[in-house]
Amino acid sequence: MTIGIVGCGNLGFSLLNGIRLKDENVEIIASKRSIKEFAHLQSPKTLFTASNPELIKKSDIIIIALKPYNVISFLNENKQYFDSEKHTIVSVASGITLKEMGAELGDNFDVFRAMPNTAASVNESITAISLKNDHLNREKAIIELFNSLGETIVIDETLMESATIVGACGIAYVLRFMRAMIQGGIEVGFDAKTATKIVSQTVKGAAQLIITNGTHPEEEIDKVTTPKGCTIVGLNEMEHSGFSSALIKGIVTSYEKIEKK
Ligand SMILES: NC(=O)c1ccc[n+]([C@@H]2O[C@H](COP(=O)([O-])OP(=O)(O)OC[C@H]3O[C@@H](n4cnc5c(N)ncnc54)[C@H](OP(=O)(O)O)[C@@H]3O)[C@@H](O)[C@H]2O)c1
Repeated sequence: MTIGIVGCGNLGFSLLNGIRLKDENVEIIASKRSIKEFAHLQSPKTLFTASNPELIKKSDIIIIALKPYNVISFLNENKQYFDSEKHTIVSVASGITLKEMGAELGDNFDVFRAMPNTAASVNESITAISLKNDHLNREKAIIELFNSLGETIVIDETLMESATIVGACGIAYVLRFMRAMIQGGIEVGFDAKTATKIVSQTVKGAAQLIITNGTHPEEEIDKVTTPKGCTIVGLNEMEHSGFSSALIKGIVTSYEKIEKK
């Protein structure tokens, strides 16, 4: 089984790294118009090419990680190399629908959409998956592939834009939140490196509490807010300044933007 990644940019390279981290024996071929930067990474099991036809011919699963505006032209220019029996096609591009891809390739292709995030590079992505047709029962293989890069959920395609905002853009929202916490940590006495370490492990721990205990965040918050204590006054001050509201408004604004495209 060879996995092809068309468009080895930010997300494509994250996927490549995550697949490699999980299993060094998987054969991967990744494309980009300029591959000079990857010369030192070329190996018998990890090929980089500037030729999409070569990638398609060598791959079984083809992950399209191009910018959305390049996806349809890529399919159009290369459709003669695709084989519906051999190839499973997964697009991770936002906004390109299964119908649009099916219109280029034909209805006999099993086409998937997946929305991972850059934490795939450390096998901690959440990937939302939708599919069109599953003539050859490949859904399980695609779910397994993305399970190896973190967690997966299968969703209706109508929710793909929402998944893009909450899961893929979500990484940026959480990182900005972390940056603010680190800045606060510096203000109360830590150097940047120590503050980063404390904040990173605290965010990881908070996420793990919810994942392991299956609790609502507020239930875990109740456990650390002593009446009249320092946590609750800080939290309430954040809320007076619009903390939750700012996050919700940001998510809705991102969603409105993606919907308009
Ligand atoms: N970044 C994220 O966090 C994220 C998360 C979820 C989904 N996505 C989706 O993933 C897709 C890629 O996003 P990105 O942020 O990774 O963009 P990106 O960094 O710009 O990656 C796209 C890559 O495609 C390459 N490329 C352009 N034309 C090509 C062609 N004809 N053949 C082969 N490669 C080509 C570009 O390199 P050259 O110019 O050298 O060819 C570039 O490295 C987008 O559709 C986005 O919606 C991104």
